[in-house]
Amino acid sequence: MQITETSDLWWKSAVIYCLDIETFLDANGDGSGDLGGLARRMDYLNELGITCLWLMPFYPSPDRDDGYDIVDFYGVDPRLGNHGELVEVIRTAHDRGIRVIADLVINHTSDKHPWFREARRSKDNRYRDFYVWRDTPPPDTHTQVVFPDKETSVWQFDERTEEWYLHHFYKYQPDLNTSNPDVRREILRIIGFWLQLGIDGFRVDAVPYFLSSDKTSPSESMPGDPHLVLKSIRSFLERRKGSAMMLGEVNLPYDQQLAYFGGEAGDELNQMFDFVGMQAAYLSFAREDATPLKEALLARPPIHATCAWANFLRNHDELTLDKLSESERQEVFDAFGPEENMQLYGRGLKRRLPSMLGGDPRRIRMAYSLMFSLPGTPALYYGEEIGMIEDLEAEGRMAVRTPMQWSDRPNGGFSTTEPRHLVQRLVPDGGSPEHINVARQRHEGDSLWNFIRDLIGLRRTCNELGWGEVSILDQPAPSVLAHRCDLPGAAIIAVHNLASEAVTIDLSVDALTSETMEGDPDGPKPVPFVCVDLWGPHRVELENGVLRVALPAYGYRWFRILEADDLDAP
Ligand code: GLC
Repeated sequence: MQITETSDLWWKSAVIYCLDIETFLDANGDGSGDLGGLARRMDYLNELGITCLWLMPFYPSPDRDDGYDIVDFYGVDPRLGNHGELVEVIRTAHDRGIRVIADLVINHTSDKHPWFREARRSKDNRYRDFYVWRDTPPPDTHTQVVFPDKETSVWQFDERTEEWYLHHFYKYQPDLNTSNPDVRREILRIIGFWLQLGIDGFRVDAVPYFLSSDKTSPSESMPGDPHLVLKSIRSFLERRKGSAMMLGEVNLPYDQQLAYFGGEAGDELNQMFDFVGMQAAYLSFAREDATPLKEALLARPPIHATCAWANFLRNHDELTLDKLSESERQEVFDAFGPEENMQLYGRGLKRRLPSMLGGDPRRIRMAYSLMFSLPGTPALYYGEEIGMIEDLEAEGRMAVRTPMQWSDRPNGGFSTTEPRHLVQRLVPDGGSPEHINVARQRHEGDSLWNFIRDLIGLRRTCNELGWGEVSILDQPAPSVLAHRCDLPGAAIIAVHNLASEAVTIDLSVDALTSETMEGDPDGPKPVPFVCVDLWGPHRVELENGVLRVALPAYGYRWFRILEADDLDAP
């Protein structure tokens, strides 16, 4: 199989791994993870096979929103280390072929940020217009708040200047006014700074919020479309570093997401998380019926060839189910989080995947195999590779932000400090490091860790999934998703059984199409092909073009269709 573009557009072939430095490994024994700890684990990440590391915010922060409330966009929080250590981490990663992307939080600052301290001093302060103010009492905005357990309005009254400032998230996170050219200049400067230090791109936080229309209205300075902000960021990014990318958090319906890719021009975000597909996957798991996921895949809009989706089953926030209907959401709650303390904000779940799937190893592996086979780029959240579960007693989203479980030593090998000094306690009881840890699983041939490592290795050889054209294959079993991703001359067929009943299906396998030669008047031609079982690997014979697949409960298979001549290719 040939892909000439894979030396470029690396995000289309990546395997992403997200972690928070604070909870990964504590090297200096103070109870908080740090950059020194992360550097020590770079070989671990390399062994696992990931190719892109997404670092959650590491900037100085009062830490009221786990680092998403920033007081210095150019800094490194001293609890985590310093710039020198960060550069070492980046270099260590690069040496191993791992790219590093950083969270870019530009919708808001902390209310302790010097800009906001200045801004709230007086109405004519030079930083006043860095934020969004109103001088009349705000309307009822309780339906717009992101954290309904803590906030009732997106406007907060400021006693000193007697005006209200905008905050889509917590009130201590005042929104930046992106319609102000000075703010936009600062954003570019921040991006330029981190690129210069070696960062390869950004996970861009809360994108629709910083482009929202309530920021453009008070301004005379941003003409027209708020997407111009994103386009100008992208073009600056590329000017500074041609290979840099932006992976955006845009939890919107597909048709609206398309605009954030820059539509047909593809000149805004290079990549976006597929929140809709993720939610459909959980509904499909709950029903043991692949239909919702199938429908989501079919509903994905075509995107520019340089853009990509990022697929995931977990991230650091609540597992949001906000795009499902109320009754669908209830189905997922009933199946995977029936107790109130397992749910968050009425729209999501506090749990990690293994506990939701009842710890069934077959089902857990099927879920990851499925996620890795979806067209796009897989993104893992730390701890998923060993099946870490949540700490339900932790407050809100902190339930899934517990320290990494390295071994069965004290504090799970995360830190040598006294447990009371830990940044957060380790998962207790059945999910504790005694039962779930890296050290043990690395040495157990049949562990989840070994499975995930194999899966990553396999996925990295299947560029059809990141680059190809997807089609859903017809077959009669509702519990089965059978999909195919085609590049010229090669295709992957992935088959997943979401149900606890075994099933055998027949798939008719269309021929491959050859590469079209430029000027070839006949266009692409079908070419003779063979089929290989990628989890084997061994050759599979088709009968009259039909592939018979026997799937056990929660079974999964990946096949490659390749040109007969290619079979022995290295
Ligand atoms: C994003 C982050 C979330 C954070 C919020 C505010 O949604 O994923 O963790 O609280 O933005 O920055």
